[in-house]
Amino acid sequence: MGELSLDGRIVATVGALPAAVAAGALDLGLICPAACGAEAAWAGDTRLLAAPSLISLVNHFRGTQILSPPEPGQMTDGAPTADLREVKGQENAKRALEVAAAGGHNLLFIGPPGSGKSMMAARLPGLLPPLSPAELLETSMVHSVAGLIAKGELTRARPFRAPHHSATMAALTGGGQRIKPGEVSLAHNGVLFLDELPEFSAQALDSLRQPLETGEVIVARANAHVRYPARFQLIAAENPCKCGHGGGGRGACGRAPRCQLDYQAKVSGPFMDRIDLQIEVPAVTAADLSLPPPAEGTAEAARRVAIAREIQAERAREAGRDDAEPLNARAQGSWLDAIAELEPEARGLLSRAAEAGGLTARGWTRTLRLARTIADLDGGHPIRRVHVAEALIYRRAGAQALVRQPA
Ligand SMILES: Nc1ncnc2c1ncn2[C@@H]1O[C@H](COP(=O)(O)OP(=O)(O)OP(=O)(O)O)[C@@H](O)[C@H]1O
Ligand SMILES: [Mg+2]
Repeated sequence: MGELSLDGRIVATVGALPAAVAAGALDLGLICPAACGAEAAWAGDTRLLAAPSLISLVNHFRGTQILSPPEPGQMTDGAPTADLREVKGQENAKRALEVAAAGGHNLLFIGPPGSGKSMMAARLPGLLPPLSPAELLETSMVHSVAGLIAKGELTRARPFRAPHHSATMAALTGGGQRIKPGEVSLAHNGVLFLDELPEFSAQALDSLRQPLETGEVIVARANAHVRYPARFQLIAAENPCKCGHGGGGRGACGRAPRCQLDYQAKVSGPFMDRIDLQIEVPAVTAADLSLPPPAEGTAEAARRVAIAREIQAERAREAGRDDAEPLNARAQGSWLDAIAELEPEARGLLSRAAEAGGLTARGWTRTLRLARTIADLDGGHPIRRVHVAEALIYRRAGAQALVRQPA
């Protein structure tokens, strides 16, 4: 593979890594441009030749100038993310962030401007474990197709993609004239952050529903039909209303509640239903800001997340499942029933919340998964009432149902 220029040089092209992996799987070798050699070499034992020009290749086969096989590029840990310790107050939101990281759940922060939503979202990757070798290869292959791998350098850090709200559907899900992966695929095995959620076009948001559900995206064009992996964790942030101050508090909105209802209606119900955790982030008070930095930061939270993830992995191993990453957020059907063992009181609370009309069918399963994660952060035993109660609080509708129930 490669692009031949008029003077006989072989110019770099995208996709060298998946091409090398595919060639290896077919027991073939691959000749690629010299500039792509360091990237293709990550494919392992595929026989490779990385040629700078057509003439060098001819000479190689004549035996007059032997091309040595390329070496893989560097492996980096990525830029360090900022520490959670810098966020003052906001204990509930930080807890939600930790729960989301532990079970791979989607998360929405709702709050007034300047309350630290974007700040906390940017700290999510720091709580997640580094990519496993299999995930690293998958994610790097997508990045290779998008032309994002420079000098064959791969990174173990989970991707964190934060497209602007003016992003088109093609930019998010993939497309363009020469079909390319979109943001959802670039975030594969990592985090997709949608800041100012209601500002995204309704069409763009709805195009995310399929990948959110299935973990892949199908891009159909007249000349191509491509399937890209797109298993990402969604984190979103929004203001309660356009002016940012709906819901009372500092400088309460003059057009409440209309302003707030209109703004939130921009995101469809089915889309919202796919977000397990929805939490209100109040404005930070002066008292919070003058506090000394909290004792716990990213390192402590990441350790608890790692333990909870290990409990999930162990559970899947014991059941003989071979999921690469058995996160609670992805548990379905009989597997979810098997792992979400509820104590009788916990089941009672969940049933009451559902009867009170606060939960859709999808909401029920999402609450169950969330409760499983909360119990896993608590040692991994059967789900108790407190775990279900916390899970219900993270769904706005669920929280209301809880309030209407006797204790
Ligand atoms: N809890 C906090 N602790 C310390 N600093 C904070 C906190 N919240 C906000 N800040 C400060 O305010 C700045 C703005 O925060 P951030 O961008 O996260 O707000 P936001 O909630 O995303 O607001 P917007 O709705 O306008 O996007 C931060 O860069 C930080 O300096
Ligand atoms: Mg923000």
